[in-house]
Amino acid sequence: MTETALASPEAAPSAPPLLVASGLSRRFGDRWAVAGVNLRLSAGRSLLLAGHNGAGKTTLLQLLAGLLRPTAGTLTLDRGGRGGPPPRVGLIGHRGGHWQDLGADEHLRIDAHLLGRRFDRAEARALLARVGLDGRDREPVRQFSAGMSKRLSLARLLYQDPEVVLLDEPYGKLDHDGTALMDGVVDELVARGKALVMATHLVSHVAHRLHSGLVLDGGEMRWVGPASGVPAILAKESE
Ligand SMILES: Nc1ncnc2c1ncn2[C@@H]1O[C@H](COP(=O)(O)OP(=O)(O)OP(=O)(O)O)[C@@H](O)[C@H]1O
Ligand SMILES: [Mg+2]
Repeated sequence: MTETALASPEAAPSAPPLLVASGLSRRFGDRWAVAGVNLRLSAGRSLLLAGHNGAGKTTLLQLLAGLLRPTAGTLTLDRGGRGGPPPRVGLIGHRGGHWQDLGADEHLRIDAHLLGRRFDRAEARALLARVGLDGRDREPVRQFSAGMSKRLSLARLLYQDPEVVLLDEPYGKLDHDGTALMDGVVDELVARGKALVMATHLVSHVAHRLHSGLVLDGGEMRWVGPASGVPAILAKESE
C-alpha cells in the first residue's frame, strides 16, 4: 500500500507536541522494518500502534526510545517549545532489562541514583506493593516469573516518571489482576499528561482507552484515525 496522503495521527493537536517523528525509517540489511512514519504526540495524548507480526511496531518504539538509530528521517523530542532538557522517555519492552542478581528494591534505588533523586525506601515499598511485588522486593530478579518481571518493569516506569511513555505489548504475561493494574496505570499516566504510545495485538481491549490509532503494514503507515477505529480495520484486513 502507498497512501502517501496519510496524515499524522495527531495532525492538529491543541498542545504543542512532545514528540515529532518525520519520515522515520529503519532498515535491517535490505529490509525496511519502518518506512516513512510521521507522528506527532502531545502531552496527555495516547496512540495505539497496531499491525500484524513483523509490521514494525517494536522497531518503531525502539526508534522513539532512542535505542535504535534511524536509517532515514528525524525524531524530535522537546517540551513543546518551552525549552529545558528534552522530555524523558520510558519504554516497557518485550525484555525487562533488569539486573538479574539484584532485588526489585535495588532496581528502584539504582533508578533513583541515575535520575539524581533521593531514594525513599517507603515510596519504593509502596510502589512495589502497588504492582503486587510486596514481600518479593529483596530476592534476585532472576527468580521472578515472567509476569512478576513485567510488574517490576511497571514499577520502574512509574518510579522514573518519564514524560513520554512507550509500551510494547504491555499486557503480555500479565494475569487478570495485572491486566486491570496496567489498564489503571495507562489511564492514570495519560490523565497526568504523559504522551503515551502502546503497541499491542489486544486492540479491542484498549481501543476505547487510547486516543489515536496507527496501523503499520510492512513498516509503512497503513491507516491513521481514532483508536476506536483500529479493531474494524484489522478485522477487515483479515477477512
Ligand atoms: N535486529 C533486527 N535485525 C534484522 N531484522 C529485524 C531486526 N529487528 C526487527 N527486524 C525485522 O523488522 C521487521 C519488523 O519487526 P518488529 O519486531 O518491529 O515487528 P512487530 O510489529 O513488533 O512484530 P510483532 O507483532 O511480532 O511484535 C520484521 O521483518 C523483523 O524481522
Ligand atoms: Mg513487536
